[in-house]
Amino acid sequence: MHIAVIGTGYVGLVTGACFAEMGVQVVCVDQDAAKIDQLKQGRVSIYEPGLESLVRSGLEQQRLSFTTSLPQAMAQAQILFIAVGTPPEEDGSADLQHVLAVAGEIGRNLRHYTVIVNKSTVPVGTADRVRAAIRQELEQRDAAVPFDVVSNPEFLKEGSAVVDFTRPDRIIIGSDSERATERMKQLYAPFIRNHDRTLTMGVRDAEMTKYAANALLATKISFMNEIANLCEPLGVDVENVRLGIGSDSRIGYHFIYPGCGYGGSCFPKDVKALSAMARQSSYEPLILKAVEERNKRQRQRLFEKIQRHFHPDLAGLTIALWGLSFKPGTDDMREAPAVFLLQALMKHGVQVRAYDPAAMEEARRILPADWFTRGQLHLVRHQYEALEQADALVLVTEWKPFRTPDFAAMKSLMKQRVIFDGRNQYDPVRVRNEGFAYEGIGR
Ligand SMILES: NC(=O)c1ccc[n+]([C@@H]2O[C@H](COP(=O)([O-])OP(=O)(O)OC[C@H]3O[C@@H](n4cnc5c(N)ncnc54)[C@H](O)[C@@H]3O)[C@@H](O)[C@H]2O)c1
Repeated sequence: MHIAVIGTGYVGLVTGACFAEMGVQVVCVDQDAAKIDQLKQGRVSIYEPGLESLVRSGLEQQRLSFTTSLPQAMAQAQILFIAVGTPPEEDGSADLQHVLAVAGEIGRNLRHYTVIVNKSTVPVGTADRVRAAIRQELEQRDAAVPFDVVSNPEFLKEGSAVVDFTRPDRIIIGSDSERATERMKQLYAPFIRNHDRTLTMGVRDAEMTKYAANALLATKISFMNEIANLCEPLGVDVENVRLGIGSDSRIGYHFIYPGCGYGGSCFPKDVKALSAMARQSSYEPLILKAVEERNKRQRQRLFEKIQRHFHPDLAGLTIALWGLSFKPGTDDMREAPAVFLLQALMKHGVQVRAYDPAAMEEARRILPADWFTRGQLHLVRHQYEALEQADALVLVTEWKPFRTPDFAAMKSLMKQRVIFDGRNQYDPVRVRNEGFAYEGIGR
């Protein structure tokens, strides 16, 4: 089987590398020539466990190749995956310019029957728009090449993307063509040998499923944050409540961790895009609006706690910040709670010493240069270096190395002994016994 994957981000590169590992001939395409040059040499610029070695083995075995030329990638492909970004527009709806640009280029270069797969997260009805864009180009050149458009949303999580892709909970194939469905099942066969986890459904159903899944997970997080905030004035420890409700098999433990808000490139934009779809259908999305609003405010929660503990005017303080990525296991800082906290701290003249096990380079790349040049933000090489002369530690991302800190070392390094635990990683009693003031979320 020959396939091409368009877009070599978190989703496209993992898709391409994992299929190549299963013996499929894969060409990955990206418009970013520098990225393609790096990939050709087996260098992966994102932090994703296991991905670089898969890319290298695909290259060595000559099953995986990289190009900036879509026509070249399409020459032999039986299936084309569109895995380009779908960032939010001003009004929250998904920006489809990249998806539709790719569809147009496919139409201009289609020569044989091909299954075109939307793997990007796209609003309901996008497959129709992709089909129309391809058809328009075919008509322009008076060509009658058959093709099908399929929706195959991706559910991988950054930080465990390779494992998630190779052992998926389900593979959703939204298709109205038997020929296309069969081809997709054939492609995915190596991942479902022991247990067929494919769910076939209508194209629009598949498009909706992806948004519903992400919106429900975001809802669980925002719900739990609401409960946590309410626990504080009521003198309740939300961690006991979490265990108490998680043990109910109807609820479960996943995604009920209170914290300083969800981030990343998916939940915030997908909740917004689903709300936009609702508005366009003249339906008021009450729950989605609340989920988004709770998250927006939750991101300010740590900052408000810092102000309450010290003083509304924080100028002159030094804060140690542990964790910059939006969650552990990735260097992705898109919509990361740490970025919102940093914005507030920078505005109030606070000095910040920050450390993250994977996202230091990314932080240097995406954060405003003047935060560094005016000497307000220091990225340090070690988690304990961040604590030197700090008035407080704020834990924002729950990376494993932060879980069992050396409190004695911390005491000797910090100016004041205060911990703001944005992910409820520490036992408040233990931390207070060690001589620290402690503030968690909902405790
Ligand atoms: N990141 C995730 O965890 C995740 C999980 C599931 C689904 N998704 C969805 O998958 C899609 C891709 O997400 P991502 O995080 O991989 O994006 P990304 O931003 O990491 O990568 C997108 C890539 O597409 C390339 N691109 C854009 N336009 C192009 C064009 N015309 N031709 C060729 N390449 C082009 C970009 O250069 C970039 O390398 C999004 O719709 C996202 O919502 C993401």
